[in-house]
Amino acid sequence: MTKKITAAITAVGGYAPEDVLSNFDLEKMVDTNDEWIRTRTGISERRILKGEGKGTSDLAVPAIQILLDKRGISAEEIDCLIIATVTPDMVFPATANIVCHKLGAKNAWGFDLEAACSGFLYALTTGAALIESGRYKKVVVCGADNMTSIVDYSDRNTCILFGDAAGAVLLEPNTEGYGVQDSLLRSDGSGADFLYMKAGGSRRPASVETVMNKEHYAFQEGPSVFKFAVKGMADISAELLEKNNLTGDDIAWLVPHQANLRIIDATANRMGLPKEKVMINIQKYGNTTAATIPLCLYEWRNQLNKGDNIVLAAFGGGFTWGATLVKWAL
Ligand code: UT7
Repeated sequence: MTKKITAAITAVGGYAPEDVLSNFDLEKMVDTNDEWIRTRTGISERRILKGEGKGTSDLAVPAIQILLDKRGISAEEIDCLIIATVTPDMVFPATANIVCHKLGAKNAWGFDLEAACSGFLYALTTGAALIESGRYKKVVVCGADNMTSIVDYSDRNTCILFGDAAGAVLLEPNTEGYGVQDSLLRSDGSGADFLYMKAGGSRRPASVETVMNKEHYAFQEGPSVFKFAVKGMADISAELLEKNNLTGDDIAWLVPHQANLRIIDATANRMGLPKEKVMINIQKYGNTTAATIPLCLYEWRNQLNKGDNIVLAAFGGGFTWGATLVKWAL
């Protein structure tokens, strides 16, 4: 009897640019202060990508290169690359195409996937399905966002939140049951008006007026999103545990999207997890949208053990949200 194929994570990579923007730097730019930012969000500093002509592909390429080096394979072995992002290099072509070219992934096809802060979970679930189908052997799933390219540094409601980074995982077939076990993903477009970019899409194309009105920046009605996020991320994570007959005791790590420390705490409490089992690096990077979860996996890679049950959870623009259960294979 042929064994069921699961999609195991066989390598991880991550990258955050060197330049740091601290809360104290922001104090000089807008009416805010370090204490407010830390107590309301958990953030102390974030990384920013500097340099004319640089974009999300410049974050994704080094993250994926680390992963290839760790696995000891060349880019030509990649079958497919999925990049989750809301800040593509250009509206089109897809950033995945550009990244494949920069890496020399000549045999890969690829595409961008947009699900805001849940983008990595959507992409991981999609990539896992490609592996489970038996058709593909090496799928790279990357979450990358150059958020500072769409942040209004005169708006204290949003500019304190976001940073730039990328993280990536390699998925390969496994017949011993390791890898992606289950995923619960949701979306609700009635949340679109709470977190979005007002112009630059087909509904409201770019014009002098839209630029003057600052409509090409990320707009967020923070408290409304907060309310939905606290409930959405905690509920879906609890549902995932229940569906798989697990309790907090069975979970080695929670890997939450890093939008706000208070949302992370609420999710961990709901799952019955102590803080020691929760990956938190929001203080260093802020909210890097699709990159938060894979960047955590990269930073914690040496603390993860083969067989660990890991829950990845996110909530973000769309609204989109979800939780994914992974059995660590490394
Ligand atoms: O990742 C995608 C999903 N996004 C999220 O999950 C984010 C969800 N939302 C949040 O995390 C929070 O709503 C924020 C961190 C964005 C804001 O925190 P909050 O506790 O909801 O604050 P608020 O917007 O209700 O503002 C409270 C007060 C207001 O002053 P008044 O009206 O009480 O006098 C704001 O004007 O804090 C003021 N304020 C600030 N003060 C200093 C807002 N931003 C700042 C600031 N510095 N940067």
